[in-house]
Order: sequence, then C-alpha cells, then structure tokens
Amino acid sequence: MIDRAAIGRRFARLATDAAVRSPILWKLFRPVVRRQFDSLAPVWDSMRLEDTFAPYDAGLDRLQGPPARILDVGTGTGAGAIRLAQRFPEATVVGVDLSDAMLEQARRNTSADLKVTYQRADASALPFADGSFDLVAHANMIPFFDEVARVTGRGGHALFAFSSGAGTPIYVPPERLRQELGRRGFTDFANVQAARGNALLARKGDPA
Ligand SMILES: C[S@@+](CC[C@H](N)C(=O)[O-])C[C@H]1O[C@@H](n2cnc3c(N)ncnc32)[C@H](O)[C@@H]1O
Repeated sequence: MIDRAAIGRRFARLATDAAVRSPILWKLFRPVVRRQFDSLAPVWDSMRLEDTFAPYDAGLDRLQGPPARILDVGTGTGAGAIRLAQRFPEATVVGVDLSDAMLEQARRNTSADLKVTYQRADASALPFADGSFDLVAHANMIPFFDEVARVTGRGGHALFAFSSGAGTPIYVPPERLRQELGRRGFTDFANVQAARGNALLARKGDPA
C-alpha cells in the first residue's frame, strides 16, 4: 500500500533542500508544493499537536521589545499570524502563503478584532519594499534568505521554527541558517529548543 503522507513529507524535504542550496530550482518545485498544500488545507488544523508552536513561542520569548510590523511567511492556516497578533496587539501582522486554500482557511480562523491581513505571495519574491518588517517569522517553512534579508529592517529580527526539529519535513539545520543569515548581515543568533522542536532567532545588524 502506498503511504502518500510519507511521500509528501519526503517531497517537502527534497524541495526544502533544493531551494536552500539553489533558490533558482524553486520554480520547478513551486507548482507541486502549492498543490500539495492546497490539498492539505482542509485537514491542516487537525494535524497540529498541542506543542507544535512551542519552538516558535520560545523564539519569540527571546525578542527584546515588541515588533510593530510583522510578516509570517508560509502562514498556512494562520496559526502563527494569529499568535503574533494576540501576543503583540499593537502590531500589524501580514501572513503570506502560496496556497489559496490555506489562506481561505486562515481567514476563517482569524477573528475580526485581530490586526492580521493575509496575502497570496511567494516567499522567493515578496511583494514588499526593502526593510518593511521588524520581524519576519517562519514556522515550518522553507527559508528564502535573500528575501528575508531584504524585507527585514535594520535591527529587526528573523525567526525560523521547526516543530519536530530535524524530524520536521521542512527543516534547515541551525548551522546552515546561521551561515546563510550571517552572510547577509544577521547577527546575535539565539538557538532555542522547546518541546520536540527548535528555533533560531537572528537580528539584522547595522551596516558596517
Ligand atoms: C508546512 S506548512 C506550515 C504552515 C504554518 N506555518 C504552520 O506551521 O502551521 C508550509 C506552508 O508554507 C507554504 N509555502 C511553501 N512554500 C512557499 C513559498 N515559497 N511562499 C509562500 N508560501 C509557501 C505552503 O503553502 C504551506 O502553507
């Protein structure tokens, strides 16, 4: 019997590794990844465990002040964006995703009193001006480092959280994150472990 879920997880890791190594390859993976998450959207919330966002929350605990402009990249059904808006009620939060089905569910999940908007966008070519955000957050999402560096303002932060650590289908080891981010002017790396997973928070430094 074919284990479709296992094949999907393997494909997600393959796409992650390829996009991190050669972002130009992403366009080959994009249509398949979009279809994969469109079909997962109706069940995505039911797949979440109690501690899925523990690493994300632990990374946010390391922020020194409240960010005002926040982007949640690969927001899926909006769980990260909603947490951010609840935690930082003064902030404006934007959640972006490739999958329309995920975004439809995210809108249904988000109460009208939260300052969250959702937009369809590809993380490899974000429709935002340079330095638009004080925090660029990722939960279980493929990082596109050039874009993260471009849209994060000076002194702002980038967060990368993986719910099941190295067992997360979409996973990038912390050493690789540090290497890629360090090369793009990020500093003050904080590695955190929480529940089954891990997160890395980094600050975008001032120009040399
Ligand atoms: C593993 S899910 C994580 C969703 C959510 N962050 C969570 O943890 O519940 C990855 C999400 O990223 C989206 N995604 C993948 N590649 C993307 C890209 N290049 N740009 C925007 N969204 C992307 C997928 O559609 C999917 O909703």
